[in-house]
Amino acid sequence: MHKIRQATIEDLEAVKELNTKAFAANPKWDPDAVRNWASTREGGKYYKEALEDKDGYFVVCEEGGKLIGYANGTRMEITYRKSKYFEIVNLGVVPEKRRSGVGKALLEEIAKWAKAQGYEKLYLDSYIKNKQALEFYKKNGFQEISISLEKNL
Ligand SMILES: CC(C)(COP(=O)(O)OP(=O)(O)OC[C@H]1O[C@@H](n2cnc3c(N)ncnc32)[C@H](O)[C@@H]1OP(=O)(O)O)[C@@H](O)C(=O)NCCC(=O)NCCS
Repeated sequence: MHKIRQATIEDLEAVKELNTKAFAANPKWDPDAVRNWASTREGGKYYKEALEDKDGYFVVCEEGGKLIGYANGTRMEITYRKSKYFEIVNLGVVPEKRRSGVGKALLEEIAKWAKAQGYEKLYLDSYIKNKQALEFYKKNGFQEISISLEKNL
């Protein structure tokens, strides 16, 4: 049985390990991605700040005393659009626990909290090659709205 709860700074090391497992495929979608980023100095700084972010919400999914998934996000300023936005920055589940509703449960917790705070829309970026994530988000009511482009200089 899994349980979703708000994360605290006590979860910092476990969340960094969890991120490494849940996002191990990132270099497949993005050859520019830093491997094991969460265990770098910058990654550690990011997670510490995200866990302490007063405008953010950070939740973990626990099963048998272990973290098996997490999601976090923060307030997003898009002043040229009408709605109030909350951005989901990360949402990941360890490979062995996927397709059993953990991702959906994390997403629903973020959505419930964001709505209660007065947010009107959820926003997120996803790698275009990450089909499993795109399928997952579309199944949960998200629509494609933009596409990011980049080129080497
Ligand atoms: C995307 C992710 C969070 C989904 O988590 P999950 O716990 O497997 O999701 P759920 O069990 O709640 O939902 C499963 C549904 O998502 C979609 N889905 C998930 N994985 C899929 C895959 N490999 N292929 C096709 N559809 C997939 C399907 O609609 C699926 O429903 P089904 O199992 O009935 O076919 C998980 O695959 C993950 O952690 N991926 C790596 C990290 C990542 O890419 N995160 C998103 C970018 S921020």
